Amino acid sequence: MGVLQFQEILRLCDEILAISRAVDIEVKESNGVEGLSGIKCGTEAVHMGNSGEGIRKVVRNYYGYRARESSCCCSCSCGASVDSIEGLKGPSLGCGRPLERISLTSGEVVLDVGCGAGKEVIEAALRVAPGGLALGLDMTDEMLSLALENRRISGATNAFFLKGTMENIPLPDKSVDVVISNCVINLAQDKGAVLTEIFRVLKPGGRLAIYDTVVNDEVPSAAKADEDLWCACISGALTPVEYRQKLSAAGFSEIDVQIDTWAEPMEDLGNTRLGSAFITARRPGASDHFDPVDV
Ligand SMILES: C[S@@+](CC[C@H](N)C(=O)[O-])C[C@H]1O[C@@H](n2cnc3c(N)ncnc32)[C@H](O)[C@@H]1O
Repeated sequence: MGVLQFQEILRLCDEILAISRAVDIEVKESNGVEGLSGIKCGTEAVHMGNSGEGIRKVVRNYYGYRARESSCCCSCSCGASVDSIEGLKGPSLGCGRPLERISLTSGEVVLDVGCGAGKEVIEAALRVAPGGLALGLDMTDEMLSLALENRRISGATNAFFLKGTMENIPLPDKSVDVVISNCVINLAQDKGAVLTEIFRVLKPGGRLAIYDTVVNDEVPSAAKADEDLWCACISGALTPVEYRQKLSAAGFSEIDVQIDTWAEPMEDLGNTRLGSAFITARRPGASDHFDPVDV
């Protein structure tokens, strides 16, 4: 690793540590706040509508509830998410295992978008040490609280957690080597904006390696408006063709969408099938110090 690169990582560390401390404080404060208990998927208190903020409110309530319940596995039933590190707390709600499909090198900076309880951040942190960083971004206080506890349990001092939204990632341009994500982008109202934001924080040559739900056909608008189906990572899913188009519009190259599984047609979705996909792409430009995706 060159000196300049090392300095850049140190500068980034400082910036991230400052944000991370703010998250620690914010999470502690929010843990004392009443008002979310008993909320299930789709609440009487908050209605989704079709605005980005309305959807985020409902999704945040749902995943706050899931974090507190720590119940198992995404109700999308879209694929297995197996923990690779034992002893960590909280639910695993993904639809695949992106870290099983990529190579990581010590010194890299990895960002997990919608990290939930942070288990994959901890795993990535161990794989990029020494010298690398793994960052987890989530908007739900209860998930971040579990993630901070998991960092403490694992002792992974190079894992950091940021509070924020995937539509507005609190990181500088061109600061990340690898973006991973597991069953999250389908939850956004504007997936194109999220992919553009991920492109912004990736370094030139940086890569995206995510799992997400996909559908094989258009989802009826009634299903899209159904809060339960949306929160369960079902009705917000894109088709593989739409995913490719949005990645391309955001500026990515080397786009690949591999379907792992297609479920049986779902009546609630007008007989559309839900699937789980491993999606890779790259921000064009010269990469500095890592190998291509290893699939
Ligand atoms: C299905 S869970 C997946 C969590 C984790 N990736 C895993 O595999 O266990 C979705 C996660 O994305 C987070 N999330 C949803 N929408 C988000 C947004 N707009 N910005 C940031 N995080 C978001 C939720 O809080 C939740 O933790």
